[in-house]
Amino acid sequence: MPEEFKVTPWEVTGDIDYDALQRSFGTTPIDDALIARLERYGDVHPMIRRGIFYTHRDLVQILDGYDKGDRFCLYTGRGPSGNTHLGHMMPWMFTKWIQDTFGTDLLFQLTDDEKFLFKDMTLEDTTSMAYENALDIVALGFDPKKTRIILNTKNVQKMYPVALRVAKKVTFSTAKAVFGFDNSTNIGSIFYTTMQAVPAFLPTIDAGRQVPVLIPCGIDQDPHFRVTRDVAPGLGYPKPALICCKMMPGLNGGDKMSSSDENATIYTTDTPKQVKKKVGRAFTGGCVSVEEQREKGGNPEVCAVFKYFYYMFEHDDARLNELAEKCRSGSILCGECKMCLTERINVFLEEHQDKREKARDVVGDMTYDGFEW
Ligand code: TYM
Repeated sequence: MPEEFKVTPWEVTGDIDYDALQRSFGTTPIDDALIARLERYGDVHPMIRRGIFYTHRDLVQILDGYDKGDRFCLYTGRGPSGNTHLGHMMPWMFTKWIQDTFGTDLLFQLTDDEKFLFKDMTLEDTTSMAYENALDIVALGFDPKKTRIILNTKNVQKMYPVALRVAKKVTFSTAKAVFGFDNSTNIGSIFYTTMQAVPAFLPTIDAGRQVPVLIPCGIDQDPHFRVTRDVAPGLGYPKPALICCKMMPGLNGGDKMSSSDENATIYTTDTPKQVKKKVGRAFTGGCVSVEEQREKGGNPEVCAVFKYFYYMFEHDDARLNELAEKCRSGSILCGECKMCLTERINVFLEEHQDKREKARDVVGDMTYDGFEW
């Protein structure tokens, strides 16, 4: 992997070359033939059409099985280190599209243990943040009958024997090579991947027969699942398949929306005023003066505001292209574009926050094995 960027489950920095990352991780591109195949199941999600979900492992096998009548299960997750931001929502929205399209069950893992081990947070903090994050999951509208939320510290009794079997198959040398751990790493962190592996095997354990699992996630999570896939056959489970997305950028033009820069990050709990302020300060592809921009036009390729339309807030390709053209020709200015994005985000958040409040009444019904929050 070139030096300029780094993508691990805990750190994403630099200018990510997604093709190089795919080569170095060893995943397979989602090419036109695969997109055409996906079109057979329903309208393909814009995140596929636009190459945002761009790479996979064994997705073809999942579809082949599905065509023969084998139902697969979805698995995704969140490490509850803070409030949910729009970058997290991206793979979840896509996961919902798969659930709706294929009618699948979904396991959603909240890793309060992970964030306790890797961040400067208490276990009480990460566990209560897990509840807050769960409200976002419910608000997104996953099918409540087909979706179960796992909280690692609550479901540990069921998970631990499976995690142990995984742990016995993974050496410290592998953990160091995959995750870059060293002698200063706490031993909980070294064990942690085994807990993220477990939900990939639970559908098979619960059903008592081999159930294929598909994991939609950001590409940063792939290292965990490389380890999971390596140990699966030896434990008698199918290797989980993956479908991975690029990282949604920050409003500062950085490569990943991340809580490390709060001003460049839109949280699902933000007020309309906060959104306006953050979008107002966003990095754009505009010129220094209005006159210059009218004359030379802007550059949507580098503009964080345009990227937000591209990634999440404008699903209509024709309207998106029109916006890019208006920007290039100088007929729309950055201020106008920012106002339009602010409006879109605030309309979305108003509805989401309403559903998030209502989620408090039902989130208890969606827990795995019926744990109490
Ligand atoms: P976490 O909480 O860092 O992120 C949750 C999910 O969001 C993705 N993600 C992003 N996707 C696009 N753009 C961004 N800017 C962005 N930031 C985060 C992550 O890739 C992830 O899919 N260890 C995991 C929790 C976990 C998990 C899983 C994730 C447990 N089991 C199974 C995916 C699948 C974590 O800390 O994710």
